[in-house]
Amino acid sequence: MEAVILHGGQGTRLRPLTHTGPKQLIRVAGKPVSQWVLEQIRDAGIRDVIIILGDNNPSRVVEYYGDGSRFGIKITYVYQGKARGLADAVYRVKDLVSDKFIVYLGDNIVPYDLSKFSKFNSSASILLAKVDNPNRFGVAVIRGNKVVKLIEKPKEFISDLALVGVYGFTKEIFEVIESLRPSWRGELEITDAIQGLIDRGKEVEFQIVDGWWKDTGTPKDILEANSFLLDRYAIRSINGEIKDSSIDGRVMIEADSVIENSIIRGPVYIGYGSKVKNSYIGPFTSIGHNCTVENSEIEYSVILDNVRLRGVSIMDSLIGNNSIVEKGGKWQKLIIGENSSVIL
Ligand code: G1P
Repeated sequence: MEAVILHGGQGTRLRPLTHTGPKQLIRVAGKPVSQWVLEQIRDAGIRDVIIILGDNNPSRVVEYYGDGSRFGIKITYVYQGKARGLADAVYRVKDLVSDKFIVYLGDNIVPYDLSKFSKFNSSASILLAKVDNPNRFGVAVIRGNKVVKLIEKPKEFISDLALVGVYGFTKEIFEVIESLRPSWRGELEITDAIQGLIDRGKEVEFQIVDGWWKDTGTPKDILEANSFLLDRYAIRSINGEIKDSSIDGRVMIEADSVIENSIIRGPVYIGYGSKVKNSYIGPFTSIGHNCTVENSEIEYSVILDNVRLRGVSIMDSLIGNNSIVEKGGKWQKLIIGENSSVIL
């Protein structure tokens, strides 16, 4: 069995962070979103992974994951190029998969036992979760243990069970995709392809996720994913240098980082080569590699790489690579990229 990770999409709701690379590479709790996915797949015993690349700096993905050996798996890359929908992406693996395979949207985090999910006996299987806003998702109507109808982004209520971005398919799906027409948003929808299986009299089964899961499309989603993953997986592991500081609870500090005269209260992740001085770093915060934090307080935030923070108090914030946030005098001096959001 192979697992296919979809790694495309424009990440428009995460601009400007996605101007330089795909959203799935944004690091939460110390790892890119898609690495959490990849490790979950590996831990379910699946070693053959196919990554479908989009057109937003796909080389970044190949540079990061390589041939997969670093993660104990084998990766094959497929270029989808310009996004024409999830079903179009899935179709690209037609000649690369065996009879049964899993598809996982690389920007979703669904902590569910994939070895249980992969044991399906119908033409397809989907993972569903109850949501409050079904119009934002593909939804499924179920009867007994089968799916009877699916609709992508329903305008009228038919079900509050949303597709959470993890699918199990057999090769039967390819024939249906061949006959699909683009939806109103101009995409070949995977939801419509699964409906096509049902229309042809095939059975589609489902499993239900009853815990937390996330589609990390927006800054708020990234912060929530970071907080959930830190809460669930952070351990106390201190590899950096600690001087005159108090490190409380589950704090992960990577090598070559220096924490001086500061308080760090977990769960917190601090990447390689970062310097924290005269500061407080509070729960549910991830700080990237090679950052400098001085005379600052940070809580519930994701700070990416090479960021410099000086004299600031921030929370609920997502700060992109190579940014500088400093307190000045009376006047604020700002150099802000397109589509940024700053609250002073
Ligand atoms: C996609 C799918 C949708 C699914 C969702 C899960 O939506 O089309 O069926 O419920 O992922 O995150 P999109 O993120 O493209 O709006």
